Amino acid sequence: MKPALFHPPLGLLTQANTICRWNMPKVPNVVTPIPGPRSKELIDLRSKYVPPGVYLVQPVTIKESHGAVMTDVDGNTLIDFTSGIGVTSLGHCTEEIVDTICDQAHKLIHSCIHVANYEPYVALAKRLTEITPGKFAKRAMMINSGSEAIENAVKIVRQATGRKNLISFENSFHGRTYMAMTLTGKWDPYKVGLDPFVPGVYFTPYAYCYRCPFHQEYPACGLACVHHIDKSLFKTQVDPKTVGAIVAEPVQGEGGFIAPPPDYFKELKSLADEHGIKLIIDEVQTGFGRTGKMWAIEHYGVEPDIIAMAKAIANGLPLSAVVARDELMKDIYPGSLGGTYGGNPIACATALKVIEIMEREKIPQRAAAMGRKLRKRLDEMYGKYDKIGEVRGLGPMLAMEFVADRETKKPDAETSSKIMKECLQKGLMTLKAGLYNNVIRLHPPLTIEDEYLNTGMDILEAAVKKYA
Ligand SMILES: Cc1ncc(COP(=O)(O)O)c(C=O)c1O
Repeated sequence: MKPALFHPPLGLLTQANTICRWNMPKVPNVVTPIPGPRSKELIDLRSKYVPPGVYLVQPVTIKESHGAVMTDVDGNTLIDFTSGIGVTSLGHCTEEIVDTICDQAHKLIHSCIHVANYEPYVALAKRLTEITPGKFAKRAMMINSGSEAIENAVKIVRQATGRKNLISFENSFHGRTYMAMTLTGKWDPYKVGLDPFVPGVYFTPYAYCYRCPFHQEYPACGLACVHHIDKSLFKTQVDPKTVGAIVAEPVQGEGGFIAPPPDYFKELKSLADEHGIKLIIDEVQTGFGRTGKMWAIEHYGVEPDIIAMAKAIANGLPLSAVVARDELMKDIYPGSLGGTYGGNPIACATALKVIEIMEREKIPQRAAAMGRKLRKRLDEMYGKYDKIGEVRGLGPMLAMEFVADRETKKPDAETSSKIMKECLQKGLMTLKAGLYNNVIRLHPPLTIEDEYLNTGMDILEAAVKKYA
């Protein structure tokens, strides 16, 4: 039986947007204050049995989701600008994805890749080496989460190069396991009370141009943030010969959608190459079309040595991967990588389908067009509302940083919280981000219908107008 809010087959999306209306129900449809009574009951139950460390951004309990629409347990329908933090890029419960999951579940759910080989894992490894930047030989391995992808990328570098130290960035986020958390450059909430961390990690400022740590302006700065590494870090803190990798997000996600200037990664890569240091690019949040190209690093014309990926890879099933140069992967000691569930057959079959759909439906190109439209709308909002300090991002991965005033740039987390609360009451799910929790980021499914995208932006603008 089709759900009430059935999402059109992806092949018909363009048609649905331009030719017909595809029988679209009224969305959003808010019938109770949010949280409604049933949502609240279940959130109270969660508060009793689940630790608060497992945080909750939006006080709502979801019953089902299709396409870009979420329905809560009180019958409210909401437009989704979160995609479960950039995961369901092809929309929730998309028919082809659901069919793939069911087909694979009828054949093989688990055998463990260490016990017996199976085709979806091997086929996915091959596809990932083909669709990632760089024509050189590569290998791929699968695990379950973004954090694990980072853990394994570091393990590969340490074992393959014998170099143990790592450079990471302030304001970064790489996950919640110990190495991933250690590499994370934001203290509260991710690291509070959790020290000591893994040894061998050194931090350097990122290209957060709006709040340049060197108080300079691009391009006159000459990428001072990159050269801080060789001019300062390598002189005062760590011997470059002992550094295995620089770990970087191509656009900082949790950090507030910070996209470095166009020549940043070329400069960073050449500095890394000069010292024999590998570049690990964390595409966990940016990969699979989120920035209008399959990989965000493609915008920068750089071919990383290692790419970590997760989130949108399997549109909601737990899966992540590490793709690295063959020379780094080929001699890794047998048994030192992997895990019981890593590269589960259903998740791998789904990832193969995700790649097929992304290529067939030209999702990255569609996302790029969405990005241009969103950017125009956000830039117009910047012209009207003084508390928007900056609009930034890459492709449709866009965000607004809120400030008390544009002169002092004093972060204004309160205003961003009020806007998000107002959006929720009007039927729009949004996410925040940023070192100061004052950034609202847009993470709609990349397949969202134009009508829902426009309505969502209208709700967002009305809330910004009210508070900013
Ligand atoms: C850039 C980046 N790396 C790593 C992670 C960690 O992924 P996971 O939560 O799947 O462990 C995230 C999660 O948001 C992320 O955005």
